[in-house]
Amino acid sequence: MNPTLLDTLPRDRLPALLQAMPKAELHIHIEGSLEPELIFALAERNGVTLPYPGVEALRAAYAFTDLQSFLDIYYAGASVLLKEDDFFDMAMAYFRRAAADNVVHAELFFDPQTHTDRGVPFETVINGLTRACQTAREELGVSALLIMCFLRHLSEEAAFDTLAQATPYLDRITGVGLDSGERGNPPEKFARVFARCRELGLRLVAHAGEEGPAEYIRAALDVLNVERIDHGVRCVEDPALVARLAAQRIPLTVCPLSNVKLCVVGTMADHNLATLLDAGLCATVNSDDPAYFGGYINQNFLEAFAALPQLNARHAHTLARNSFDASFVDGDTKGRWRDRLDAVFERAAS
Ligand code: ADE
Ligand code: ZN
Repeated sequence: MNPTLLDTLPRDRLPALLQAMPKAELHIHIEGSLEPELIFALAERNGVTLPYPGVEALRAAYAFTDLQSFLDIYYAGASVLLKEDDFFDMAMAYFRRAAADNVVHAELFFDPQTHTDRGVPFETVINGLTRACQTAREELGVSALLIMCFLRHLSEEAAFDTLAQATPYLDRITGVGLDSGERGNPPEKFARVFARCRELGLRLVAHAGEEGPAEYIRAALDVLNVERIDHGVRCVEDPALVARLAAQRIPLTVCPLSNVKLCVVGTMADHNLATLLDAGLCATVNSDDPAYFGGYINQNFLEAFAALPQLNARHAHTLARNSFDASFVDGDTKGRWRDRLDAVFERAAS
């Protein structure tokens, strides 16, 4: 890849490039891709009554003040998921959107406890999701992996119980993560369950430094031994931590629209994405819960690049390349995707 190409591309060509470049999405909660229309369709199919009269009323409730105000609605939305086909349909709807955004690989978070606690068998969840992952590969050419998240507002015992339920299906689960309410639920609470997951050969990630302090990022690295940090934007409050993240090339899966919608930052113009990249961090751009936060991955790229004038074609290339580097696929596959990325940039510059 000719490096001067990255510095000479006019800014007005950026939106088309952001759309066209191949990318991986590494931070998407599949339950957060449930659009209101699908929530109501599944509610009707399953005879579930929702506490909202219709799609518009539900959408109008998407005015969040913090993470918890979002999670309350997010868990209510997930209550319509009962059958294997519901999980399949939800994931396929996401994969079609992702393919349209030139996502070539997605690592999907799922929250089994949100479903098993309502009496939905683990098997129902995993069968629907794995069937969707296979169909996405065959019909859309999108590769996908599954990451099972533990809900951090629940107990360590509940996490161990979920791991036991997942045990027959571990060949379909690439890794584990930690999500839900961060404040007051530090990584240390899950030290033993993550240690067990590590012994089982699972890859490890955790949400940290979204609403919680930089100290939670350190604990996720040192106590949980995670390989990637989800969000991590509050690392900038600790310059020594930023230096460590850069030196160890620990990826951050940043979610710009989420950070605005959950009031982690004031406006997109206040977002520190450019600062993180310029500090040499392996940051990536992701959608988190796209049905709730105003857009899928390309919308995140477009709005961040529109609001942050420092971001240029070099940053775009770095972000896409980082998404491949930070993914949990083998080195050869990463290399092929990087070549495809370079080809798109070279075409754009010619
Ligand atoms: N679950 C779904 N989205 C989340 C987020 N942004 N943070 C923590 N838990 C989540
Ligand atoms: Zn998240």
